[in-house]
Amino acid sequence: MSTRPFQRISAPLGTSLAIVGLIAVAALTTPDLPERTRHNLEILLVGIWAAYLLQLAETLIVPRSVDFRDRIPSVTVDVLAVAVPFAAFLFVGRRDQSLYCAVWLLKPLRYSTFFRLLGRVVRNEARNLIGVTSIFGIVLFGAALAAYVIERDAQPERFGSIPQAMWWAVVTLSTTGYGDEIPQSLAGRVLAGLVMMSGIGIFALWAGILATGFYEEVRRQDFVRNWQLVAAVPLFQRLGSAALVEIVRSLRARVVPAGTVICRKGDVGDQMFFIVEGHVSVATPEPVDLGAGSFFGEMALITGEPRSATVSAVTEVSLLSLYAVDFQVLTSSNPDIADAIRKTAIERRGAVPKE
Ligand code: CMP
Repeated sequence: MSTRPFQRISAPLGTSLAIVGLIAVAALTTPDLPERTRHNLEILLVGIWAAYLLQLAETLIVPRSVDFRDRIPSVTVDVLAVAVPFAAFLFVGRRDQSLYCAVWLLKPLRYSTFFRLLGRVVRNEARNLIGVTSIFGIVLFGAALAAYVIERDAQPERFGSIPQAMWWAVVTLSTTGYGDEIPQSLAGRVLAGLVMMSGIGIFALWAGILATGFYEEVRRQDFVRNWQLVAAVPLFQRLGSAALVEIVRSLRARVVPAGTVICRKGDVGDQMFFIVEGHVSVATPEPVDLGAGSFFGEMALITGEPRSATVSAVTEVSLLSLYAVDFQVLTSSNPDIADAIRKTAIERRGAVPKE
C-alpha cells in the first residue's frame, strides 16, 4: 500500500494535533475543572499521543530519499513527542503528567521550512550575533555595577548587591521599565537614560543582523533555484560564467497557473519572459504556441511600442522575467544574445499584420 497520502496529510495533521493537545494541556491547569471534563481531556491527550506514535513508526519504517543525517532533527522531535509524555506517565504524579505533553510545542517546528531558514540565518550570522550579545552582556554588567555603586546607600534593599542591581539593568536595558526599581539620585537617573539608549541600539543591531541575514539567505536560495532554471534556457547556454551570474541575479522566477494572461495586447511592456517549463499561446491571428526554452515580450522592450499581442498560459508555466533595465545591460554586454533576440523579434514582427 502506498504511504504517499499519509505523508501528504502528516504535516498538517501533526501540527493540528499539537495545537489541540496544547489547548488541552492549558485547560487541564484550570483548578476548578469538573472531573469528567478533566478525564475527557486526558483521553484526548492519550489519543494524540497514539497518533504521534503511529507517525513515529511511519517516520522510522518508511524509506525516504532524504539522507538520514538531514532527518535527525525531525526524527528527534518525533521521538521526544512520544518518549517524554510516556516517561511522565510512568514516573510523574497525575497532577503534572499532562504538562510534559508541552513537548509537542516542537512539532510545528519539525514541519516548518521557516524554522530551517531561521536556523541557517542564525548559523550564518552566529559571529555577529555573538558579538552583539557580548556587547549586551558587557553593558548589562557595567550598568548593574554602576547602579550598585551609585544607589547602594540610598536603596540598599533594591541595589544592595550587583545581582540585585542586575534585575534593574535587564529591565532598563530592554526598555521594559517595570518601575519596581527606580534610581533616586541624579547620577542614577543619568545612568538609566544611557542604559535605555544603549538598549535601543543593541536591539536595533540584533534586528538589523537578522534582517540582513534573512535577506541574504533568501537571495541565495533564489540564486540557486534561478541558476538551475537559467541552465534550462538554450539562449543562455552560450554565456560565460561571469555573465551567467549577472543574468541569474537579474532574472525573477515565477510560476503562473494555466489560463493566466501574462501580457495583454496594447499594454506598456516593462519586461520580457523566458519559458522554463510549460506552454503559452500568443493570440496572433494564427495563434502561436511557445514552449520551454522560448521567450516572449521582447518586442515591446526593443521597440518601446505597446505589446503586439496577448500572451496567455496554456498550461502551468514556469517563467523567468527580465526587466527592461536588466535587458539593456544584458544585451549591451552580450551582443550574441542581443542579436538572437532581435532576429526573433524581427521575424515575429513580420508575422504580425500591420494595423
Ligand atoms: P511583445 O510585443 O512585447 O508582447 C507580446 C509578445 O508576443 C511579443 O512581444 C512577442 O514576444 C510575442 N509575439 C508576437 N507575435 C508573435 C509571433 N508571430 N510569433 C511568436 N511570438 C509572437
